[in-house]
Amino acid sequence: MDKFLIRGGNPLKGTIEIGGAKNSALPCLAATLLTAETVTLHNVPYVKDLITQRRLLEDLGATVLTPELRTHRVTAANIDTFEAPYELVKTMRASVLALGPLLARFGKAKVSLPGGCAIGTRPIDLHLMAFERLGATVSLESGDVVARAPKGRLEGSQIDFEKVTVTGTENVMMAASLARGRTIIRNAAMEPEIEDLAELLKKMGAQISGAGTPEIEIIGVDELGGAEHTIIPDRIETGTFIVAAAITGGELEIAHCRPDHLAAVISKLSDVGVEIEKKNDSTLKVRVSGNGLKAADVITEPHPKFPTDMQAQYMALMTRSEGTSKIVETIFENRFMHASEMIRMGADIHINGNTAIVRGPRKLTGAPVIASDLRASASLVLAALCAEGETLIDRVYHIDRGYERIVRKLRSIGADIERVTEDSAVAEAV
Ligand code: EPZ
Repeated sequence: MDKFLIRGGNPLKGTIEIGGAKNSALPCLAATLLTAETVTLHNVPYVKDLITQRRLLEDLGATVLTPELRTHRVTAANIDTFEAPYELVKTMRASVLALGPLLARFGKAKVSLPGGCAIGTRPIDLHLMAFERLGATVSLESGDVVARAPKGRLEGSQIDFEKVTVTGTENVMMAASLARGRTIIRNAAMEPEIEDLAELLKKMGAQISGAGTPEIEIIGVDELGGAEHTIIPDRIETGTFIVAAAITGGELEIAHCRPDHLAAVISKLSDVGVEIEKKNDSTLKVRVSGNGLKAADVITEPHPKFPTDMQAQYMALMTRSEGTSKIVETIFENRFMHASEMIRMGADIHINGNTAIVRGPRKLTGAPVIASDLRASASLVLAALCAEGETLIDRVYHIDRGYERIVRKLRSIGADIERVTEDSAVAEAV
């Protein structure tokens, strides 16, 4: 089990280049299953979840070439199985994104029902409801979701999501692209990753309008073709490094990012005293203003509001900010596990249901802590970077799922961090 050993206190200075968005690359890779022609994706982040997604495509029979580390050339011409097995799905919930494409192109799909994870039960009932609305039959057989299109092809329909679901919206967009007729998705997710997937699908020949708004229209076509597409930058990695600069009192230039994709995060961090200057459409300059950091409340909500994936990182920053902040988590039912680890480091945090009260500033001191999920592990790294003394973070495989070469990137801007590992094969490769 890998660990990070971090000695806090160094202000981070220099330039960071943001990688491709994990949560766009995952649905875009799944979308390659919709055609027998070759789809080339650039700027795919070299992180564990994408290695898993690639393995899933190959297990299904697709050919995946990587002429360069972050370019995936996928040809799903010889799909010979239609099943995403438990051992893959249990490690990565996003495997459910194979359901829509397999069902749409082959009329059948079998995906292990994902179990819950650290942050919540995370059911897929809304995905399955939508597939039934598109004319599929869905049954649960020994822990697997088995979906079939009895007429051989899905039928367009109106889908009203009672709750915003990111991968649910993505699954339906992909399935409806090959359905017969028109599909309308209401209460659709509006994340930038939804728009990025729609851009790829349109390049493949799909007829989609309204991506990025609450209502998306898809007119099904008989088949989709090959395409070439570059994945958008990762807005959560961007937000994480903005907090890294602020929490260490450093100064960073963050390149290859899309500030317009994280407007709510930039606005909130500016409110608490982080100076964020937009040098151009893809570069930010970040430092803390002379007056220091001031606490402010935040509530997580679907895009374009403040994202749940930045909640843990924001909590770390609030432990070092003057005053009391109230953090309300409305998306997942159990996404405060980083709080108890920060308390071990000296933070003053009280949890009451989906609300956390943080009082600061508190001096943090290094301690052995355990990561519980992807963004929690990022928040513990942030806390350790400004803590006095040594922090040893265990179970950092969580962070390797979504942050490319995080140790190398942090060391390049002055962090005193090293990976204590049994096997660094994936973690810090090129
Ligand atoms: C996506 O997860 C992201 N993952 C998550 O990022 C992100 O936190 C989440 O959206 C919210 O923004 C990917 O895109 C791969 P949801 P997803 O369906 O699609 C409930 C990270 O750190 N729900 O939008 O699984 C669900 O339980 C990860 O990168 C149902 O009840 O999230 C949750 O409470 C973590 N039934 C809420 O809706 C369903 O059928 C939002 O879930 C589907 C979801």
